[in-house]
Amino acid sequence: MEADVREATKGKAATPDSAKNVLLLGSGVLITSETQIRRLKEAGLNDVTIDTSKGKDSDAGVAVQQPVAVPQERRKKSLPGGRKVEYKEELKKARATKEVVKNQLKEALGDIAIGGSMDRKKLDAGAKLITTSVLNNVDAMVGLTRLKEHDPYTANHCINVTIITLAVALADGIDEETAQILATATLLHDIGKTKVPLEVLNKPGRFEPHELNEMRKHTTYGRDVLYDMPGVTEEMMLIATQHHEMLNGKGYPNNLMGDEIHRFGQMTAIADVYDALTSARVYKPAMPPHFALGRIYQNKNIEFNGDLVDLFVKTLGLYPVGSLVQLDTNEVGVVAEPNPDNFRQPKVGCFITRYKKFRQFPYLVDLANDPQENRKIVKVLNPSKYKIDVDKMIKMCTG
Ligand SMILES: [Fe+2]
Ligand SMILES: [Fe+2]
Repeated sequence: MEADVREATKGKAATPDSAKNVLLLGSGVLITSETQIRRLKEAGLNDVTIDTSKGKDSDAGVAVQQPVAVPQERRKKSLPGGRKVEYKEELKKARATKEVVKNQLKEALGDIAIGGSMDRKKLDAGAKLITTSVLNNVDAMVGLTRLKEHDPYTANHCINVTIITLAVALADGIDEETAQILATATLLHDIGKTKVPLEVLNKPGRFEPHELNEMRKHTTYGRDVLYDMPGVTEEMMLIATQHHEMLNGKGYPNNLMGDEIHRFGQMTAIADVYDALTSARVYKPAMPPHFALGRIYQNKNIEFNGDLVDLFVKTLGLYPVGSLVQLDTNEVGVVAEPNPDNFRQPKVGCFITRYKKFRQFPYLVDLANDPQENRKIVKVLNPSKYKIDVDKMIKMCTG
């Protein structure tokens, strides 16, 4: 049987009651395995809507040509390139946007931690601001994810994960309306951390096994917090519960495998690991973005969906903003601006000249527009070996 299951009749598939106990398929997901069918049956669904235009009809039951709550069109429409506004122009707005949304989210998560409720209007407004900026110029917002900050409920991390997930999802072809829904849900992906004891959540060192166990519970805590929240969406439940699941079944909390994990859960998992790897902790330095990208790529089709990893690498570029690179002339610089047309040729803010002289004010080399020398990146370096402020360098290059 191959059918397009969108919603259970009478909306059963999306009800918190069923989603609380069993992770369901997302709307519009094509059924391709017996496991998916089993999970739907286990969720107590007696019937589903089959869109016969998407696959084989079923002998049993009646195909109902009904409008559904989550339109299939959401994933069909592709947005053009994601770059409506020039990089530098959007970067200035994106910086301000990220700051505003971060402060709102910090406040909202803090309220939930003390038993308050979420200001949905503010959350939706924040998600809209981020979505609009990513739609204007995906590179500008993605570049800002390199800015890390540790706050109690990881609001900054939640925004970074939202930006990267959105960027991948847009490359995957979702439309603007779905992008907004996805952004709202991803901002809340770690909402369960508000229920993890602070001494565990803020422990500076590595976790003991029992602490790790408690920390991992944030996925199920998240589901419980959302369950009580008015206006909860299916996407919120899915992402909060599934963002630590891995394709090979070695994730948590439910050891889901392959397409048992919703595509949005699979996207968020990639973004989440990338932001964690590139963040410094007391017990580990931040991994440079290029190497974090490599780590994720190595786990393509093992922990992470291969197609989504390809989109992720394409979106971030081979040398994400902030990467320290050496050119074939021995000049050394920081990747200051990506090149969406050729990810091997970003703009590099060089601070070490070919004569090994250090420059306090970097000079910009556009590798895509270098007809005289046609310079190339030959090596990625570890910034910890250079006494430079990467963010300051980028700012000096991009204004
Ligand atoms: Fe998480
Ligand atoms: Fe996270």
